[in-house]
Amino acid sequence: MRMTLSSVVIGSLLILFAIIFIAVVLPYADTNKTVPSEIFRSRDAVEAAGRKLYIANGCVYCHSQSIRTIDWGLGAERIAQAGDYLADQPILLGSARTGPDLSQAGGEHPDDWQIAHFINPRYVRPLSIMPAFAYLGDENIKKLTAYVQSLGLKDADRRMARQRHWKIEATKAYEAGPVANVKWLHDMVPEGWRNVPNPYPTTEAGLARGHKIYQDNCLGCHGPIGDGMGPAQPWIYPPPLNFTILKDRDVSGGILYYQIMNGITGSAMPYFKRELESEKIWDVGNYVAVYFIGETDANADPRGIDASYEPQ
Ligand code: HEC
Ligand code: HEC
Repeated sequence: MRMTLSSVVIGSLLILFAIIFIAVVLPYADTNKTVPSEIFRSRDAVEAAGRKLYIANGCVYCHSQSIRTIDWGLGAERIAQAGDYLADQPILLGSARTGPDLSQAGGEHPDDWQIAHFINPRYVRPLSIMPAFAYLGDENIKKLTAYVQSLGLKDADRRMARQRHWKIEATKAYEAGPVANVKWLHDMVPEGWRNVPNPYPTTEAGLARGHKIYQDNCLGCHGPIGDGMGPAQPWIYPPPLNFTILKDRDVSGGILYYQIMNGITGSAMPYFKRELESEKIWDVGNYVAVYFIGETDANADPRGIDASYEPQ
């Protein structure tokens, strides 16, 4: 075949149409068939306004909203489906994870945690590199919070319903005074966990590790001296626990371990089971026990906070 002008033009156009067909028409026809997933719901006006702020403030440059099968290892809760995104225009999948994936962020923390975190992420996560968004103002932070709490759609709604239910219970217990509050907190811990023997003796090195873990994770809420007056305190209700009210209240290492591992739903107390391995949870529990609660080896079963357990 001869290379004439018309054969080059027609050939190029054919290639162009083929590319448009494969890269645009076929995928479009396919996405049009997408049906709502089992968690799909549309967003209300406040959540939609929060979504606009999410776009305007560049959150998508640090956060993805797409969980893939390779993310099971990161503790993912659900693999994202095409039908989750039907209401999203544009879809904010994101391509970087400077921060964590947010597709199931809704209901992971109660609103007070989210608000303190937006005011300044270092208040609740002392090592965070996320920028502070206090300058957006309270109204906008509320909208952003509503949006983040909607991530995960119906699954997020279920988690939020749990958060709200337990927030009411935690608030009632807090307002009933320290004795009732400590009782309420400890009644939640299953019997078996209270008696879990502490596998780590309180050594100098262990306490030094606990001190560092406390500074990196806990100090923003519970405060440098454990009185609950960290910088996040004005935003958190019920307020961060003042550890000194645990003095002489029969707190065991197992109780501290359980609460630090699982967090306290409804209160801002987060769970640390994904951030801290078992030894670190014991270390920071020992640190809290020794420095703020004034516990020493209880020397009886179940062994006290800092007892090393060695079966006879
Ligand atoms: C420079 C990168 C960066 C930007 C921009 C950013 N974040 Fe983050 N974000 C992070 C990092 C890192 C973390 C993990 C540490 C922390 O929790 O602060 C995080 C954590 C979070 C969390 C907590 C997730 C969880 O449950 O643990 C939420 C919610 C969040 N970001 C929302 C936002 C929103 C909304 C915006 C935009 C207003 C935003 N982020 C902007 C980096 C960023
Ligand atoms: C975002 C704020 C926040 C952070 C960060 C935080 N806590 Fe808490 N913590 C709370 C709140 C709020 C409570 C419960 C208050 C209530 O319901 O009275 C609580 C309760 C607890 C309890 C329960 C005590 C009991 O006797 O049942 C322990 C233990 C605890 N925190 C330890 C820690 C440790 C250790 C860290 C760091 C690894 C930490 N917390 C980080 C807010 C926080």
